[in-house]
Amino acid sequence: MTLFGIKKNIRLLISYLHDFHVYKTVSLINSHQDVNGVHSLGLIIRLYHTIEKGLSIRERKLEFALANVKLLQDKLLSYDGDKSEAHIKSAIVTLAMYFNEHPDSGLSENFTKERERFYKLTNTYKLDNINVGGGVKEHVETKRLDNEFALKLVSSRKSIRDFDNSKSIEFEELVKVIDVAKMCPSACNRHAVKIYHSLDLEQNEKILELQNGSRTFRHNVPGLMVITSDLRYQEGVEERNLGYIEGGIWLMSLVNSLHLHNLSSCVLNWCVSPKVDRDLKYLLSIPSYHQVVGLIAFGYSNPVQNVPYSIRSNSEEFLIKINING
Ligand SMILES: Cc1cc2nc3c(=O)[nH]c(=O)nc-3n(C[C@H](O)[C@H](O)[C@H](O)COP(=O)(O)O)c2cc1C
Repeated sequence: MTLFGIKKNIRLLISYLHDFHVYKTVSLINSHQDVNGVHSLGLIIRLYHTIEKGLSIRERKLEFALANVKLLQDKLLSYDGDKSEAHIKSAIVTLAMYFNEHPDSGLSENFTKERERFYKLTNTYKLDNINVGGGVKEHVETKRLDNEFALKLVSSRKSIRDFDNSKSIEFEELVKVIDVAKMCPSACNRHAVKIYHSLDLEQNEKILELQNGSRTFRHNVPGLMVITSDLRYQEGVEERNLGYIEGGIWLMSLVNSLHLHNLSSCVLNWCVSPKVDRDLKYLLSIPSYHQVVGLIAFGYSNPVQNVPYSIRSNSEEFLIKINING
């Protein structure tokens, strides 16, 4: 191996060690028993979601997911965060549905104990004050939406780098973009994503000086989002890459939603060294548990402009047929 190759490998190892250190320090990798705050909220969402899923299964067993119900109630009883948080309320509604659908008698001692603990819980989280849904709802397959419109929407999107900065973007528009984008799927429905945003041209240029793919247009970016995943919600060794997956799904959902709201955008990579990552976090006061996944430059497009052709391979080329015994 050349000296250059050795140096590259060392840099790779140091970068992995840095990622390892961050994940180990901030994620929910330790015991479930001794967590509180946001870690606890992430766990509560994951647990009540498993019960929602169980309730949606046609053929479910009596007392299903009882171990999760127990852990969920432990966490809710000791939860020291905001008790009016929507997910906390939804967890209570889900538990109510779970216990309601079980018969009054003929159940195990453990189940009866949990049902009694639930009554205790409803003293803390008053059920009649809860104004959010939870558990399950009926889903009737909708007739296909306007297919032509949907196809046009997706296939007409292009990455735009030439924005009309005379048209300002209001914060309210951004909220509307999120209203749609947040409908994307999310592991355990945790939506552990935070989006740092700026609608200030000068500020955006300064931030983008740290980003390597925007050199030619960073001086004219009306809107900027920095998409981060909250690693405090990620559990155990197995979820170590989940932040990037969630963040990636959100990136695409945001891009489509921006397009739907007549705003153009360009996804910007965040492929940087640990040092540059730290520089950005320092500049924007982003805590270490918010993992930067990518950025989106956005704004109203200049009406006519050239964009890269960006061809696609034939669709068949993306597909590999699975043949387990082949
Ligand atoms: C993860 C990711 C990172 C990207 N990073 C950059 C970037 O740093 N700078 C840039 O100009 N475009 C960037 N792009 C945009 C791509 O160049 C663009 O999506 C691709 O050429 C396809 O073109 P289209 O989006 O117009 O269909 C990125 C796209 C993705 C998905």
